[in-house]
Amino acid sequence: LDNGLMRTPPMGWLAWERYRCDIDCEHDPKNCISENLFIDMADRLAEDGWRELGYDYVNIDDCWSSKERDKQGRLQPDPKRFPGGIKKLARYLHDRGLKLGIYGDMGTLTCGGYPGTPLDKIEIDAQTFAEWEVDMFKYDGCYSNATEQERGYPLMSKALNATGRPIAYSCSWPAYQGGLPPKVNYTQLGQICNLWRNYGDIQDSWDSVLNIIDWFSENQDVLIPAAGPGRWNDPDMLIIGDFGLSMEQSRSQMALWAIMAAPLFMSNDLRTISSKARSILQNKMAISINQDPLGIQGKLILKEKSNIEVFLRPLSNNASALVFFSRRTDMPYRYKTSLAKLNYTTGSYKVFNVFTEETMTLKDSAEFVVSVNPSGVVMWYVSPPAKLNLHQFYNGGKL
Ligand code: DGJ
Repeated sequence: LDNGLMRTPPMGWLAWERYRCDIDCEHDPKNCISENLFIDMADRLAEDGWRELGYDYVNIDDCWSSKERDKQGRLQPDPKRFPGGIKKLARYLHDRGLKLGIYGDMGTLTCGGYPGTPLDKIEIDAQTFAEWEVDMFKYDGCYSNATEQERGYPLMSKALNATGRPIAYSCSWPAYQGGLPPKVNYTQLGQICNLWRNYGDIQDSWDSVLNIIDWFSENQDVLIPAAGPGRWNDPDMLIIGDFGLSMEQSRSQMALWAIMAAPLFMSNDLRTISSKARSILQNKMAISINQDPLGIQGKLILKEKSNIEVFLRPLSNNASALVFFSRRTDMPYRYKTSLAKLNYTTGSYKVFNVFTEETMTLKDSAEFVVSVNPSGVVMWYVSPPAKLNLHQFYNGGKL
């Protein structure tokens, strides 16, 4: 969507995967969906170095609202869990250089059973969100059918735009229609949404991450052209720092989300996250690959019989990112190849290892070996060495 927002994939934090629909603030005050949770995460983003790296959205998901609309028919937050109201929360975030995302659903009810935003409520809800100074809206699709979705998703895009407030727009529409043409029209999605969920929900397990990676790889020829500045495929949240992934697997999720130009919304507990998980999520090179301004989504280029997969993403300045991903479950695998075998042709390259920070120079013809741990990755930033500009060199004899 060409609204000036999300020219690179959005980054931030989103409540759903880790906190779900926990509304039991009496017994679980630290983890329930309440303003305190979002305030806590905002404090962490602002104080623990996240915001400076680009993680600036704090996004509410399902189960934030009251079970009833107010007397004027507007959505309202649960008064016990959000006593200050959404506008005050938005102000709290804005004061700290952060942005607020909120959630709604195209059907009669949200997936969690809270009031939805069906066709006749689109305008009033868009206006309410703008009035609250919300910066992003995720439109889920439970309890709506294909016909309603076809009208509702574009209508909401118009309604948000008509408020005059820049509100980024996340559409779950394709995920409810199988994620593929002919049911899903990615050209249209790119015109009306800033990002969209293509596939099922991520869970806190390596199985779930693998399942998502495989679906995105299998369908990459359809998905890659859909993505670009202002319009992104969304393979769902980062679960790094939760319970389901080893450190190797955490690096793999980070690497592959960067290759896929995916939105980087963490769903974890930033108050208690381990320093290891934090350093993966805060890896500057991985983030800058994810945030490359060209916005070209990368792809699986090679699936070896040895169960090593190679992914490549083209980057600006003639650079690229390479990921060697092991699907093995035995031991570190010594994968032997050359840049030439991976279609690199112009001589000598500089290689920066994203997670070990080692550098080396490599000729395209040179064979090399990377040791890839089970369910882990080796990730490289590859750039052609700066060319000596002969014209400039001979022009007056000075550089
Ligand atoms: C389904 C969505 O795909 C999830 O991300 C989450 O928003 C839940 N609904 C909330 O009920």
